[in-house]
Amino acid sequence: MCGIVGYVGQEQAAPILLDGLSKLEYRGYDSAGVCVFDEGVLKVAKAKGRLQALIDLTDGGKALHGCVGIGHTRWATHGAPSDTNSHPHMADSGKIAVVHNGIIENYLELKELLMARGKKFHSETDTEVVANLIEFYYDMGCDFKDAVQKAVSRVEGSYALGVLCRDYPDTIIGVKKDSPLIFGYGQGCNFIASDVPAILKYTRDVVYLNDGDLLVMDKDSVHFYDQHGEHIQKQPEHVSWELSAAEKGGYAHFMLKEIHEQPKAVRDTIHPRIKDGRVVLDDIQLPASYLEHLKRIYIVACGSAYYVGIHGKYIIENLCQVPVEPVLASEFRYADPVLDDTTLVVIISQSGETADTLAALREAKRRGARTLAIVNVVGSSIAKTADDVLYTWAGPEIAVATTKAFSTQLSVMYLLALYIAQDLRTLPQARYDQLLTDLLALPDKIERVIAPETIQQIQYYASQYFNNHDVFFIGRHLDSATCLEGSLKLKEIAYIHSEAYAAGELKHGPISLIENGTLVVATATNPKLFDKTMSNVKEVKARGADVLGITIEDLGGEIAKTMDSAILIPKTELLYQPSLSVVVLQTFAYYVALMRGCDVDKPRNLAKSVTVE
Ligand code: F6R
Repeated sequence: MCGIVGYVGQEQAAPILLDGLSKLEYRGYDSAGVCVFDEGVLKVAKAKGRLQALIDLTDGGKALHGCVGIGHTRWATHGAPSDTNSHPHMADSGKIAVVHNGIIENYLELKELLMARGKKFHSETDTEVVANLIEFYYDMGCDFKDAVQKAVSRVEGSYALGVLCRDYPDTIIGVKKDSPLIFGYGQGCNFIASDVPAILKYTRDVVYLNDGDLLVMDKDSVHFYDQHGEHIQKQPEHVSWELSAAEKGGYAHFMLKEIHEQPKAVRDTIHPRIKDGRVVLDDIQLPASYLEHLKRIYIVACGSAYYVGIHGKYIIENLCQVPVEPVLASEFRYADPVLDDTTLVVIISQSGETADTLAALREAKRRGARTLAIVNVVGSSIAKTADDVLYTWAGPEIAVATTKAFSTQLSVMYLLALYIAQDLRTLPQARYDQLLTDLLALPDKIERVIAPETIQQIQYYASQYFNNHDVFFIGRHLDSATCLEGSLKLKEIAYIHSEAYAAGELKHGPISLIENGTLVVATATNPKLFDKTMSNVKEVKARGADVLGITIEDLGGEIAKTMDSAILIPKTELLYQPSLSVVVLQTFAYYVALMRGCDVDKPRNLAKSVTVE
């Protein structure tokens, strides 16, 4: 979702801002803009569409002169994507320029107040209201910082803001609540940004702002303030990962690169947490006395992360005998969940900034539950808010469609289940030891799924089926959960209508949609349920469907009796099998999208980090 970059230094700002914005493209956007102090004048350039349109418009930034500026990629919320609605937004009298990520919920009420005081508006956005509100307080006699502070105190909703003032040509102000914003220390320059990749070329020392924090920076200094305007100290954190981790590294797309990074990401997530034959989660505090009284676990998340939660239900209930309920964060926050100190709420989020998930986490805390977050982005809002955090060590995930974050979240699910099981003693030692052995071997098995022979096979099937209009994914038990993810991948990046069903459910309605040539992808990795799924396959074949199967190598001979097309994956512990089948489904969606000419890394209408409700 929207990306912000701000630069103040000695170099020309516009090319640096454009470069920074290019590193934030993964967040999803539909227009872009920059504002630079050009000989004391706030000059704005903005363009609907890809960042390239803005690069062309400004001759790579050369058309704007000046060493202080802010830039933005916009993901439309209030008002369609257009040049006018793009950020930065100028206040009516041209004294204030603002870039914004988030949603101002009371913008209509504020807009009316400002219009009554003579302010004119030119866009449909909520952001223009903030620019005018700051200008309003500035005109009332506040200095720049106080005007920003007063304005944000009137605002309801979420925001990360980068603000320029015509009378402060050396200064940028940044402020945030419920949307991410970081500060970066440069040499003779300073930065703000929505995320580290935007500024990693220039600095590794960053401060992750907390909600309510405001900063005032020039090229040589930065001052931080809390929401009451009191001066505060912030400690920088050092970013250790390389920029190459956020670049394509020879792959055609980030998504393909991230698919291939999965063995390493899963290894990095699992291996350091298995020591001396036990799962060791040093980073969290779930004492045995608490776990013994645990009555229920809710797993709360959005999208793919929610699907990890559905896998989690099967895994934790099987290994720990504790009831688990996966719930969509957007529902959980407004439902009336029964929570107390015997309930654990597990929150899953790659970005750590998803608005619904963050709100659900706060609601869970408010109702007295203990909270544990599984998060990829260090220092993110969810990581900071939860009682405990388990990081997925996937590294930066750039493609909008998640792959390696999903796989590492699943890995943490296995670790968490084993950790609880070892405390509750729900598993015989031999079974526990075998589960650990198989978990340690999992990254090598994922490696085998992305071996060239399997990839070629997947490419072949993608070439056979990429023109289909409707695809159904079916499976039983954990396979049905993995189908949800396979179906979402195909929808989001290949724009193909697809549905995922528990295989036994088809005959209760959806089978009426099967006709000649409908593609059904049947995932059948559970030997005990294999025959049942094959019966469902026969039912759809009898109605004209083309079926592509996914099963384990041991069942290769069996599946050939029912269908001609099947992809075989290595066998592992039943509960870990989704970690292998999901890689096939991700790769299939990737090649189908590619063959349909879709923009794989930046699918239409989607954003990487969904910071609005
Ligand atoms: C799908 C996808 C989304 C995210 C969802 C939650 O490929 O990436 O469905 O899983 O938006 O995002 P996070 O995990 O950042 O909370």
